[in-house]
Amino acid sequence: MADSHPLALAQRPRRLRRTASLRAMTEETVLRPADFIAPLFVVEGKAAPDPIASMPGVFRLNLSDLVKECRALAKLGVPAVALFPKLDAKLKDDEGTQALNEDTLVLRAVRAVKKALPELTVITDVALDPYTSHGHDGVLTPARDDVENDRTVALLGRMAVLQARAGVDLVAPSDMMDGRVGAIRRALDAAGFSGTGILAYSAKYNSAYYGPFRDAVGSAQAAGTRLLSKATYQMNPANRREALHEAALDDAEGADILMVKPAGPYLDIIRELRSATTKPIAAYQVSGEYAQIHAAAKLGWLDLARCRHESLIAIKRAGADLILTYFAKDMAAALR
Ligand code: PBG
Repeated sequence: MADSHPLALAQRPRRLRRTASLRAMTEETVLRPADFIAPLFVVEGKAAPDPIASMPGVFRLNLSDLVKECRALAKLGVPAVALFPKLDAKLKDDEGTQALNEDTLVLRAVRAVKKALPELTVITDVALDPYTSHGHDGVLTPARDDVENDRTVALLGRMAVLQARAGVDLVAPSDMMDGRVGAIRRALDAAGFSGTGILAYSAKYNSAYYGPFRDAVGSAQAAGTRLLSKATYQMNPANRREALHEAALDDAEGADILMVKPAGPYLDIIRELRSATTKPIAAYQVSGEYAQIHAAAKLGWLDLARCRHESLIAIKRAGADLILTYFAKDMAAALR
């Protein structure tokens, strides 16, 4: 009987998986707290942290709780936060006027965080969706059937300058208008902020995974529908070559970091961009990716800690240097 005879194999990859120390020695990808950027939601007032139903463990924070959370993150070794304001519906209008108010919530938040933690990298979104009553990332055409590109880009440039003046380290255009990275770069330089960087959402897909985030900032309710379509500016999930095109444009227009969003379902895109540019690549593990892991864990169908780790190691292995994730704090704590 042949089955008792060893195979004459020169290659036995299992040799290096035999013991824990051999597995550790041959591990190719390692996560560390400095890989993460924590997205945080900010609200007005003194209210207690306000839980977001579809994002267990994520809260809308008032300014003083925000500063506390940033301090806790910094202590755990998380080097950066990305701030997202949730405005009172009363403050929203068609033109997103509050985005250009020098004292708008997110700018006060930036000043408070930078004052308390000057070393922490602070990132703000450059997009109009938290400010518009229709929930779109820009202003609408006269016929109200689309977002008007060039008028929106002009507003984004002004918004970025206000954020730079408040002290952010990186502005992050998440709107997907054409030409916005170049326009923001020029606006920042003209205002004396040549040191403020641009983290560009270069390949941002028209994804269904943003649902919980839209609840968190109220952009879905603002539109009166959960089916707000951003298909005329965010990318078609079917497209890969187009991501390379978008990234090449942002790279040439002066983006410092190129981002892919969502992350987990778009690992091929992260890998493509990693080989196409020498700049750092970021990936955004979005609200829906976080929600689905939590939901399955709550049902007892998946192991939360292991899936969390695996989802993030996959994103890093694909080629992301930086990962925006709602798991940032828990992961940093787990890695200690
Ligand atoms: C919009 C914006 C979105 C997210 C960040 N900025 C969603 C959208 O396009 O409506 C989503 C992030 C997430 O789902 O976690 N400027």
